[in-house]
Amino acid sequence: MAGFNLAELLIEFVNVGGKGGGLSNGVLLRHTQFLDLAGSSVTSCLITSLGFAIFWWKEAVVYEIYPASFKDSNDDGVGDIQGIIRKLDYLRDLGVDVISLCPHYQSPQVDMGYDISDYNRIHEPYGTLEDVQTLIDETHARGMRIFFDLVINHSSNLHKFFQESRSSKDNPKRDWYFWRPAKYDADGYPHPPNNWRSHFTVPAWTWDQNTEEYYLHIYAPEMPDFNWENEECRQAIYETAVIFWLERGIDGFRIDTVNKYSKDVSFPDAEIRYPGEETQPASSYYRNGPRIHEFLGELRRHFDRYDAISVGELSSFPRVEAEVIKFISARARQLNMVFNLDIAKFGQERGKRKGLQPFVIVDLKREMSRWQDFVSGTDAWITIFLENHDNIRSISRFGADVSLEDRILGGKLLAMILTAMTGTLFLYQGQEIGMTNSPRSWPAEEYRDVKSVNKWIQAQERCKESQECLDIALEDIWEHTRDHARLPMQWDDGENAGFSSAGVTPWIRVNDDWKETNVGKQIKDPNSLLEFWKKLLRLRKDYKDLFIYGHYELLEADNADLFVFMKEAHGKRSLTVINMSADKKRWKGPPSSFGPNYKLLLQNTANADESVLSAWEGRLYLSSS
Ligand code: GLC
Ligand code: CA
Repeated sequence: MAGFNLAELLIEFVNVGGKGGGLSNGVLLRHTQFLDLAGSSVTSCLITSLGFAIFWWKEAVVYEIYPASFKDSNDDGVGDIQGIIRKLDYLRDLGVDVISLCPHYQSPQVDMGYDISDYNRIHEPYGTLEDVQTLIDETHARGMRIFFDLVINHSSNLHKFFQESRSSKDNPKRDWYFWRPAKYDADGYPHPPNNWRSHFTVPAWTWDQNTEEYYLHIYAPEMPDFNWENEECRQAIYETAVIFWLERGIDGFRIDTVNKYSKDVSFPDAEIRYPGEETQPASSYYRNGPRIHEFLGELRRHFDRYDAISVGELSSFPRVEAEVIKFISARARQLNMVFNLDIAKFGQERGKRKGLQPFVIVDLKREMSRWQDFVSGTDAWITIFLENHDNIRSISRFGADVSLEDRILGGKLLAMILTAMTGTLFLYQGQEIGMTNSPRSWPAEEYRDVKSVNKWIQAQERCKESQECLDIALEDIWEHTRDHARLPMQWDDGENAGFSSAGVTPWIRVNDDWKETNVGKQIKDPNSLLEFWKKLLRLRKDYKDLFIYGHYELLEADNADLFVFMKEAHGKRSLTVINMSADKKRWKGPPSSFGPNYKLLLQNTANADESVLSAWEGRLYLSSS
């Protein structure tokens, strides 16, 4: 129990644990009693042997849905809310506990709904407010929960708050966004207030002719940043984006760009990393600003009134555990958990435009283990995941995307890694059937992601007629495009993969492999990746003391091909052994610390030779000595 503030833990239990569920099989648990804050009454809480407080959301399997690409119910080529409702039974049967929906709000879709023009309306092609209420209710009726995406670092430029803000310098909402005059050089030419670079385009400031000032946007110009320093603005955000939906019964939020609300509002120039370029990377100035924890504390008070759970996207984060803990320590009362985006970006070098790096398993092991180790012995909690809507597909990233057979084995072994790790497990749509990146052969015109489209526009200007230059640009787009994860979900082997009916043109092209990789083909096939995932998700619950809450230990850290780790809880152990290469590997067997009495719980091949791991083979052992 060292390291716990019992009173704070008690609050955590009372506020969040009240929703029930989440009790483990008792063997490992200590039934602990706490004095409440006033010291007068006694409340009970279940704590694992490692000191983790037990809550339903720690044990949940969360499935992320990208509404545009999940299921089109009315054949306009765009996924929709009714489409999701039709697939709820599929998700329940898979073993999903929570669905997490990417933005479904009214939006001009410059950034696929992350540019919201009205938090209280639904993007028309997706459906109506009534449809969304039905989705919430139908999800609950199946014993599942639902999270929405909370995008409140910025709005769309079409949001009425921004429209008012830009209308005049003395509009009451002027200060709800960041407006600054131009900086004039010696020759009298106007320039943006500083040299910050945005994520999607070049300068982070755009000139607005109407009032002759610049406004800040750390993403696209159509996505102006809210000024969180303004209290009225914060209250309006809480009312419209947060409370409105909590009142309608959702269970929590995935929170977009959660560490960017507080910025350095003196707006200094960023250091020159690219000499001669007009703008410079500036994330250290617009993330983790001085008031970030104060703002998150405010948000948390709203969540707590509804027992709502929060999972934050900590982007551009320095690799320092001491900082991350401030966001997720239970006693800090900020977020329940965050995503470690370093894991999703694996194989792509941070901050450099270098493209995919040759995959080094030792580095992946180090990063995943660092994340596992760091939470151990703290009152914090983590997520585990490999995919989301912003990153390339994991099977392609980790090199198993060669033949269908490899893809199935590769998908299974990645699933085996996640299954036995500590943390809340997040799956992204299509991951359960092994969907892969789009082919290299697709022309740039197939991509819809604002980042990719911008890159292509810039390449055409830069390259003129040079085919070589254009080929390099297309390669770069292919390596990074977020569209790999946004292609239509592959439901069956019919035209359009069952996403839309035959004859319809979906908003984005269906991947070429839909005939061999789809839900219809995998369902009930005992050897399929989908059925394997179902089995693993059941095992994860059956052995949650070990897999979800157990102590993690990396073995053979320097082995260049094998990923071997042990979980331990109260004398029970599991051992996950993964060959992450396309070659056979000798294996010396479980270490003596695993104990002599062990059995093989699961394997993704039929190989019977214990001392040799075949290509992409994964094994999961249990021991109880
Ligand atoms: C997050 C989202 C991403 C979006 C960005 C701006 O990173 O995951 O899809 O483009 O925020 O809202
Ligand atoms: Ca539709």
